[in-house]
Amino acid sequence: MARRIVVTSGKGGVGKTTVSCNLAVRLAVLGYRVALCDLDFGLNNVDVVLGVENLAVYDILDAVEGRCRPRQALIRVPEYPTLYSLSSNRVSGRYISPQAVRLVLDSIAPQFDFLILDSPAGIEEGFHRAASCAEEALLVTTPQLSAMRDADRVAGILKCYRFPRVGLVVNLVRRDLVRKGETLHPKEVASALRLPLLAAVPEEDKLLLNGVSARVRAFRTLADELLSEEEKEGKRR
Ligand SMILES: Nc1ncnc2c1ncn2[C@@H]1O[C@H](COP(=O)(O)OP(=O)(O)O)[C@@H](O)[C@H]1O
Ligand SMILES: [Mg+2]
Repeated sequence: MARRIVVTSGKGGVGKTTVSCNLAVRLAVLGYRVALCDLDFGLNNVDVVLGVENLAVYDILDAVEGRCRPRQALIRVPEYPTLYSLSSNRVSGRYISPQAVRLVLDSIAPQFDFLILDSPAGIEEGFHRAASCAEEALLVTTPQLSAMRDADRVAGILKCYRFPRVGLVVNLVRRDLVRKGETLHPKEVASALRLPLLAAVPEEDKLLLNGVSARVRAFRTLADELLSEEEKEGKRR
């Protein structure tokens, strides 16, 4: 049964979707079956980042609202044979309950090793809906104080969910500024937030067209931190 990992942040624009997509790609490259699920129904963009926006017939809201079967809403990402996108292409005018989303995820979970859940920013309904569908959480922040303050609030709220661990990803790291002492080191961010640092992702000028880029090393580290010894052993065999 798939591990369900929610990617949250508090503040918007700090890189949740970027981290979700790059992590999903990395796990798929390692051979895991991954579904990247866009639970950011308002500002959805997983399909664009993965370059599958023209391939969708149905989306997650069609599945949630019963217009199609959950697996009909899965889009295979052409470049990666084991990567699927459960994207969200429209805004629903209706209330979407966490239970309805969970049922859709339950129905696809047996086909996958990982469900990566891209969450909306903020600490409102959409964030709770995404968190309540997960069993593990990643928290993304930048080294900026405003993002860290929001991350700290989210970390506090996530305690209610009793995830075994909330792993930190520090994004948009500028080594030059860290060296000059103009911004915090990712380790200082982690110690201020009292969270384990799983990866530090550099800010890159050059983003590939579909957004999955050469921040490869950071995402290798992140995948490596998330995978248990048994899972790695299973792939080596
Ligand atoms: N490490 C990075 N280097 C350069 N640009 C990045 C990086 N991470 C995110 N971005 C860019 O920042 C913007 C916001 O990122 P996104 O992942 O959409 O944030 P969120 O999902 O948290 O709102 C996007 O344009 C994205 O391409
Ligand atoms: Mg996003």
